[in-house]
Amino acid sequence: MKIIITKNAQEMGKEGAKIFAEQIRSKPDSVLGLATGSTPIPCYQELARMHKEENLDFSKITTFNLDEYIGISESDANSYHYFMNNELFQHINVDLKNIHIPDGNAEDIDLFAKQYDEWIQFAGGIDIQLLGIGENGHIGFNEPAEELMTGTGRVQLAQSTINANARFFDIDEEVPKEAITMGMKTIMDAKKIVIMASGVKKHDVVKRLAGKEFLSTKMPVSLLFLHSDCTLIVDEAAYNG
Ligand code: PGA
Repeated sequence: MKIIITKNAQEMGKEGAKIFAEQIRSKPDSVLGLATGSTPIPCYQELARMHKEENLDFSKITTFNLDEYIGISESDANSYHYFMNNELFQHINVDLKNIHIPDGNAEDIDLFAKQYDEWIQFAGGIDIQLLGIGENGHIGFNEPAEELMTGTGRVQLAQSTINANARFFDIDEEVPKEAITMGMKTIMDAKKIVIMASGVKKHDVVKRLAGKEFLSTKMPVSLLFLHSDCTLIVDEAAYNG
């Protein structure tokens, strides 16, 4: 795992966007794996700027998002559908028919999840996947556990994730307890992975990753040590604490 340390979150986003832009310029019909949360926002801002000022062209791009809450409407401001439109899609020239986000309201979540992995394969696989890291070491919504899921599927959120997400909801009862997420194999099958972390809250997990290589299902992000093309971009606050 290659580690890049940047001054702050804005610079972290720019480094990530640089890698994405390189990918898009060398293969205009790339398949992008995208993430939500606060971490990718500076990266999306930079990609939007590159589109506007440097003609970075998304017209042939296909996207697959990592995850979505179960039971939240797509128009809800806390849904990841809403987030992606707001933070990225409406600022670039991506063709809306090429966008894929897991459907947390699908009638049959298990069937949908299976199809989602098939659609990724049909699109040729993910060329580059963007990831954030949970404070507990989750990626997507693959929470620390004895066993991890391989393909896309339904998961119960860890209490620590529910607590971390509570800041976005008015009342605790509204915080989703379940989600649909790409599984570990779906993520690991991406040809290239860019994973980012910023802020002191991520220091403990970044410190472990920057120490020695290890594998633990109790820290799903550690499985990325098995990936041959993974870049971790962290800001000084996450790296130094
Ligand atoms: P954050 O979430 O970007 O909002 O910190 C990251 C994650 O939980 O994967």
